[in-house]
Amino acid sequence: MAGDLFIRQMLLSDLDNFTYILADKASGAACVIDPAAEPVTIKDVLQKEKFTLQMVLLTHGHYDHVVGVDKYDVPVHLSGAEAIFYTPVAKRLTRTLDGEKVRLGPFVIECLHTPGHTPGCQCFLVEGNLFTGDTLFTDAVGRTDFPGGDAKQLFQSLQRIKALPDTTVVWPGHNYGSGRSGTLGELKRRNPFLACADIKEFISYLS
Ligand SMILES: [Fe+2]
Repeated sequence: MAGDLFIRQMLLSDLDNFTYILADKASGAACVIDPAAEPVTIKDVLQKEKFTLQMVLLTHGHYDHVVGVDKYDVPVHLSGAEAIFYTPVAKRLTRTLDGEKVRLGPFVIECLHTPGHTPGCQCFLVEGNLFTGDTLFTDAVGRTDFPGGDAKQLFQSLQRIKALPDTTVVWPGHNYGSGRSGTLGELKRRNPFLACADIKEFISYLS
């Protein structure tokens, strides 16, 4: 454990989006994952906690996850693979690669490219926590019928996630399930999409 990591899950927007604030409690260095409300809403929380925003992390570029990113004057990290599909306007947009690591105080946040919902979906892994955006929800997975979606890619991405320790805590991008988070072990037991043995079975669940 690198230190004391603050995690705040905020339920925002009419689409039941989850926005996350992560912070190093010691230094107050903070990041926002998937802003789903205007910056002033999130800024209020940062100010109350006396945190300093250092960056914004985007799991993907769909509009409900990138609200107001054009107003942030900090680096905004989006997967490079999202480029031609969903690219929000941001002052300091940066492109991440699969496996790239970004730092938040003493913490290392690893970017895992998990295409399928969109070509450039990525999850963020830090201290045994996985922020999955619309790749994986507690009881379901993201849609693959939007432009750039690919069910086969999503299936492969889920296999990659399943290889992580069962103790990994999954923090989804929407409040679509019976719980707001859960360990990967719990999700393997209750999420039928994670139980699919092959792509054929997976696609049958999607339809
Ligand atoms: Fe999405």
